[in-house]
Amino acid sequence: MTQDEMKQAVAKAAIEHVVKGTIIGIGTGSTANFFIDELATIKHQIDGTVASSEASAERLRGHGIEVMDLNSVSEISVYIDGADESNKHLHLIKGGGGALTREKIVAAVSKKFVCIADESKLVDIMGTFPLPVEVIPMARSYVAREIAKLGGQPVLREGFTTDNGNVILDVHNLEIMEPVKLEETLNHITGVVTNGLFAIRPADVLLLGTPDGVKTIT
Ligand code: A5P
Repeated sequence: MTQDEMKQAVAKAAIEHVVKGTIIGIGTGSTANFFIDELATIKHQIDGTVASSEASAERLRGHGIEVMDLNSVSEISVYIDGADESNKHLHLIKGGGGALTREKIVAAVSKKFVCIADESKLVDIMGTFPLPVEVIPMARSYVAREIAKLGGQPVLREGFTTDNGNVILDVHNLEIMEPVKLEETLNHITGVVTNGLFAIRPADVLLLGTPDGVKTIT
């Protein structure tokens, strides 16, 4: 089974978590794209979606699925999105696609967060995948110096601007032993918009694609 086939299988399995007659939060990335394509098959059963990126919004609209402004929505039943890494506590690293801030906002509003990923994403200790940090452009050098003091090696994502007009520092060489603490520490650096750790608000369910089928971890 290829990695894409595993992503497709979890995307299909995630359809069971879609609550009919409600608004669904939609993530970003290749696994989320497979989910959007699956959602198109039941689009008449939902009230609409809120997207975590312009790219996902465009894909949703391409399927004729309504995309709503989060400010016009008071409740999202479930948020479905991929991840770059997950540990067994369902703490995640996200933001490989640069959409971490909007992803964190939509996850915060959603009652339930279902993470969909292939088995390569499940790790014992997070940090092999460089941790993305979204930063206000004028604070880039200051934030990089502060992150270096914490032991990380920040690298500017060249030629990339987020949907919010900011830059991303990808932080290498972190062995994340205390994800909640690191998430809070990084968010307290002035100039940081947010970081890609989803530990304060982890996923509620992880659907993991394996060659033996989809495993559900809660
Ligand atoms: C987007 O910013 C990310 O958080 C994605 O959810 C993450 O990178 C997973 O992407 P894939 O599904 O493409 O692996």
